[in-house]
Amino acid sequence: MATSDKKNSLACVILAAGQGTRMKSARPKVLLELAGTPMVDHGIDLAVSLGASRIVVVAGHGIEQVEAHLRSKYAGLSGLAVALQEPQLGTGHAVVCALAKLRGHRGDVLVLYGDVPLLERATVRRLLSARRRRKAALAMLTMQLEDAGAYGRVVRGRRSVVEAVVEAADASDDILAIREANAGIYCFDLDFLRKASRRLGRDNAQGEFYLTDTVALAARSGSGVVAVPCDADEAHGVNDRFDLAEVGRVLNERTVRRLMAGGVTITHPESVVVHPDVKVGRDTVIGFGVHLLGRTRIGTGCRIEVGSVIRDCILDRDVWVKPYSVLTRSRVKKGAQVGPFSHLRPGVELGPGAKMGNFVEGKKALLGPGVKANHLSYLGDCEIGEATNVGAGTITCNYDGTHKHRTVLGERVFVGSDTQFVAPVTVGDDVVIGAGTTVMRDVPAQMTVVNPKDQKTWPTKQRERKANRRASGKGKAKR
Ligand code: UD1
Ligand code: MG
Repeated sequence: MATSDKKNSLACVILAAGQGTRMKSARPKVLLELAGTPMVDHGIDLAVSLGASRIVVVAGHGIEQVEAHLRSKYAGLSGLAVALQEPQLGTGHAVVCALAKLRGHRGDVLVLYGDVPLLERATVRRLLSARRRRKAALAMLTMQLEDAGAYGRVVRGRRSVVEAVVEAADASDDILAIREANAGIYCFDLDFLRKASRRLGRDNAQGEFYLTDTVALAARSGSGVVAVPCDADEAHGVNDRFDLAEVGRVLNERTVRRLMAGGVTITHPESVVVHPDVKVGRDTVIGFGVHLLGRTRIGTGCRIEVGSVIRDCILDRDVWVKPYSVLTRSRVKKGAQVGPFSHLRPGVELGPGAKMGNFVEGKKALLGPGVKANHLSYLGDCEIGEATNVGAGTITCNYDGTHKHRTVLGERVFVGSDTQFVAPVTVGDDVVIGAGTTVMRDVPAQMTVVNPKDQKTWPTKQRERKANRRASGKGKAKR
């Protein structure tokens, strides 16, 4: 983010001090998650994408939690500050609190709400350029509604010039009948806002400092107000858990549509969950109920089948993820296959053409090109060389109760079913391991290894045969 305070630079104030009582949450409302990120981040990311050089989040309830979140997520964002508003005396008071953090700044101030996350960048661009073009004291987003409910009403005078915003609580019936509502998103000339904010009072139905009173001040100031129309859906605020779900659905639908427009097949669009930062290459097919989360990247021509959940992974092209697989912070290279029912925990890397199949769990496991681990295995803290075949039921015993240890297998190793590797242990290239072996010591290349186990076979006694039959329900029924 640029830090120079040149004339036309943009600052952004995000109002987020409201309590959010209806959420009934232990956390401040703006930290509740939408599309995988706290709500307030949607405003910050929008401001950053518009080139804001200063961003002030106004917080009150749970400010420590808000600050802690911002510190950890936006540590590198130099122009970001948090302003305390305590007590919360209205939107005008909230902006006054923010202005204290914008000393020395000149230019435009965009005012956003922390709980209005559907606002689109193109709409805000229109707002910003409308103010600059008209050199207005402020530009505001307004919307047309059948019933404007609790929204502030936009009062226009002669030649439709905006004269004021009147809050519903203060409005006469005539004013309540106005259908044009204030969306609550503004772009101010900062000099005007500084002066106007000093003139706000609390003589109104709610006893609050109304930011909306700046509209009448601007209308009278000569430089005026410009109203920019916006779609009411974009200004939808989140006030309860139902809003949270609905707004989340809309955000998800936008992301899903963006992917489809880019050439991705999504067989049941309403069933999938895709976070906004996910990228998917064309001709990839996403099946029913798939979740693509975090910063997942998926290449072209992949198939992601029903019920798979992929978080923060990179999948190269032509990868096939079969049903109900769960992949986290892992990398899957070209043409590899995963699942059904595989669990790739963080740090798995599947080489080109490798396979990790039914009920296989991996963690920090590097599987070379063409490695097959198709059935019922645990592969943790290991490195497996090219073209090695891992038999069913193989377990890397990586944990000695205190520390984790590595298993290293060479290339073209044949691992018989039900093998255990007691780590740390290293096995060379071209080794053959018999079924049921517990590999406890290193094995040099080209060796065959088994544990000496003997099989004894003898005739079963008649008494035992009867007992077995009874147990299996095949004995004679008792009268
Ligand atoms: C405000 C507008 C109203 C507009 C509506 C659009 C005022 C006086 N009214 O209504 O014209 O139609 O938004 O949604 O501005 N906040 C603070 N500190 C406070 C009060 C609020 O940070 O002291 C924050 C809230 O967390 C919220 C935003 O400001 O994010 C808007 O507050 P809210 O109470 O929802 O809006 P209203 O005042 O009802
Ligand atoms: Mg209010």
